[in-house]
Amino acid sequence: MKLLEHKVVVISGGARGIGAGIARILAQHGAHIAFSFVSNSSIDAANALVNELETNHIKAKCYQSNAADYKQSESWIQDVLKDFGTIDICINNAGIAIDNLILRLSVEQWQETQRTNLDSVFNITKHVIKPMLKARSGSIINISSIIGIKGNAGQSAYAASKAGIIGFTKSIALELASRNIRCNAIAPGFIETDMTKYLKEKPDDAKNLLTKIPLNTFGTPTDIGNACLYLGSHLSQYVTGQVISVCGGMNI
Ligand code: NAI
Repeated sequence: MKLLEHKVVVISGGARGIGAGIARILAQHGAHIAFSFVSNSSIDAANALVNELETNHIKAKCYQSNAADYKQSESWIQDVLKDFGTIDICINNAGIAIDNLILRLSVEQWQETQRTNLDSVFNITKHVIKPMLKARSGSIINISSIIGIKGNAGQSAYAASKAGIIGFTKSIALELASRNIRCNAIAPGFIETDMTKYLKEKPDDAKNLLTKIPLNTFGTPTDIGNACLYLGSHLSQYVTGQVISVCGGMNI
């Protein structure tokens, strides 16, 4: 029996990067996958990922839905429930990084970052807990960031949104533990995706950054998928309200 056989997983922002990596790992371990994407330019990638996931003999479906929008999130989760019947694991992954020093950071950039990174976690959690409460079981996994723990010059909006996720995670863990719903966060370090592709364009910056990572390498979406496999499965049944850093030791 596979670790996540018959489990239904929702992933926000799953068409590429870390979200797609998580989908691949969980599907390999038997989970059915319902993921969202936001822009028209992601439609082809989303459909291609659905086809790829289905080769694991699981059910997969993609949905166009803006996680920053409360109403759209509500109807996305309703659609998933119609299509899949229940939701066992929720991965709040959708996110953007708008980097700017506070002197130049506009109120629009601040608000867009909070809406996409933090409001989205509320928008989706609010609706996935209903089937979880009914089943008296569930695992919610929020993708934070090492930057939300230690901060970074030029990333105040991003860091604030990711730190907010950690406070939300711990509070939800306390509220829902008695119903056997667990809520944890993952704090990735530098993971190779579109969000960090600027590193490839500036090899000197990349080299410099590697000196700060004890394992001396950047992470991959698979590394985050493996952490989700642990937090989503019974292997972590006694773990809630925690922040697991997956960062090559960068936080030591
Ligand atoms: P990415 O830019 O490759 O992917 C982000 C995904 O989120 C995309 O599929 C995008 O379409 C989706 N998305 C953005 N806004 C959305 C919205 N409003 N509604 C629905 N989907 C939306 O980035 P990556 O690296 O895969 O990031 C995934 C998560 O991991 C983000 O929350 C990010 O902050 C976090 N993270 C990434 C790190 C890295 O080094 N790549 C490090 C720490 C955290």
